[in-house]
Amino acid sequence: MLKTHACGELRLEHAGQEVTLAGWVHRRRDHGALIFIDLRDREGIVQVVVDAENAPEAHAVADRARAEYVLQVHGRVRARPEGFRNPNLPTGDVEVVAHKVTILNPSKTPPFYIYDDTPVDESLRLKYRYLDLRRQRMQRNLILRHHVVNEIRQYLNAHKFLEIETPLLIKSTPEGARDFVVPSRLHPGKFYALPQSPQQLKQLLMVAGFERYYQIARCLRDEDLRADRQPEFTQLDLEMSFVEQEDILNIIEGLYIHLVEKLLPHKRIKFRPFPRLTYEEAMSRYGSDKPDLRFGMELVDLTDVVAESKFRVFAQTVSQGGQVKGILVPGAANYSRKELEQLESHVKPYGAKGLLWMAFREEGIRSPAAKHLTPGEVQAIRERVQAQTGDLLLIVADQPDVVAAALGNLRLVMGDRLGLRDPNELAFAWVVEFPLLEWDEEEARWVAVHHPFTSPIPEDWALADTDPGKMRAQAYDSVLNGWEVGGGSIRIHRSEEQAKMFELLGITQEQAQAQFGHILEAFQYGAPPHGGIALGIDRLVAIFADETSIREVMAFPKTTSAQDLMLGAPSPISEEQLRELHLAIVLDE
Ligand code: AMO
Repeated sequence: MLKTHACGELRLEHAGQEVTLAGWVHRRRDHGALIFIDLRDREGIVQVVVDAENAPEAHAVADRARAEYVLQVHGRVRARPEGFRNPNLPTGDVEVVAHKVTILNPSKTPPFYIYDDTPVDESLRLKYRYLDLRRQRMQRNLILRHHVVNEIRQYLNAHKFLEIETPLLIKSTPEGARDFVVPSRLHPGKFYALPQSPQQLKQLLMVAGFERYYQIARCLRDEDLRADRQPEFTQLDLEMSFVEQEDILNIIEGLYIHLVEKLLPHKRIKFRPFPRLTYEEAMSRYGSDKPDLRFGMELVDLTDVVAESKFRVFAQTVSQGGQVKGILVPGAANYSRKELEQLESHVKPYGAKGLLWMAFREEGIRSPAAKHLTPGEVQAIRERVQAQTGDLLLIVADQPDVVAAALGNLRLVMGDRLGLRDPNELAFAWVVEFPLLEWDEEEARWVAVHHPFTSPIPEDWALADTDPGKMRAQAYDSVLNGWEVGGGSIRIHRSEEQAKMFELLGITQEQAQAQFGHILEAFQYGAPPHGGIALGIDRLVAIFADETSIREVMAFPKTTSAQDLMLGAPSPISEEQLRELHLAIVLDE
């Protein structure tokens, strides 16, 4: 090794020792005869002192060193004099007095500072990702990610799971996104699909008798990207045989607790056991199927209270089958008119026509709706939401899906404003009993809410021919602090039921045979009852690391337009490659 110690490991107990360090120049301060270099490696930073009088050659080299030069330093550790210690640095009690400094490699001036946390344009960060990753925040995030994956393996191995790899070149496995495809050179005109998840393969591993499988699996989905979505991402993918829903929830609950106890001593799990909400309950109480349960501020239904109101906004909404709902924001009654108007911008993008407010102030109730409502109506509203003086009620009247989306989002905004979303609190929860199917207007057919391999709640099979929209799935989502961090289901394991499901989804028998013949056939060879789940590792680590975007916990993420700015991908391929792959490019006008 070119070094005997890590920069970040040096402490008072090393004082007096000769050490050799290697690392990067984090910062350099030139005081003439004395040069101070903060030398950085993965373990941290230590101060190196180079004295022109005692080590003139070392001083001459240090004089040439600049930010991000790679240095090797031979020196002696000494305690810093009282008054010069730096309590903010783990190595702050010591410094290394250099007697030899070697430049292992110089560096161009980096396009941004590595040593400070001032925001840098993200495209610049992504172009120079290898420099961005040198920064403390990114080092910390990727190290945490490593530990999360390691602890996942430890926990699952201890619970008799086997880690099994599945291929990347497969046939389409639908998860509701577009496939990325790979042209076949050997089979002209044919394509592999990259897995949106290993869903079918893990089910086939259950047919194969492995009983407990997991994989840290890369998934590829060609979909619109957001802060919590990447075209390639990583799942903890897991499947179990001979289980019911409860068994899977319990295994995963145990895994989360294990991760938090091992890795996040500064964070608290808010509820144990994790609460379980039905999909319907989550939508009606929080306006979201991934509610942030760190705080209350639930949606309160006012529809029946205002059903008879003469106020046009309410009357019209109710007569058109809509809902009137509100959230009560404690202590916000004194928001200015301007602030209240600005809140509208948080509901309009979700289709709400407006936002009504009602402020319960010392001097009385203030509301643009006040003059249209009878005192009895105002009183009934106040009672329904149990408003105290000082509270602010925010109301949306619209169709149920608009009300849920608008108020669900506004609830999060208000939670942020009031400081109710403490990053050190982890509110894990389960959302269960999702609908099995939803109607796709464009395609004019039912589509699977989770995926086509999900089993309905057994008694709901009876609805298949009469009211498929009412069928409930044995599907569950794992939610954490307002994110969907996982999803899974108990699967169909009988061939005829799987065929029935394809039929419900409007897939003809021929199509089903062509696309999914392998699974229909496999189910005829004694497929065990089975079920599973996949957790989004990127999302989980982002929450654990207090980041708001999963890009911050991925080494080489893509931009929101699916580009890799460092590698310059996607990029054209040569004529020759195209020919080999039997492809011709036709560009749209
Ligand atoms: P699902 O599609 O719900 O289920 O995915 C499981 C979890 O993966 C994460 N996730 C993503 N993370 C980052 N970028 C994306 N584009 C992205 N898409 C999904 C989410 C999500 O909860 N095969 C089923 C699982 C099963 O049934 O066992 C599946 O993939 O955290």
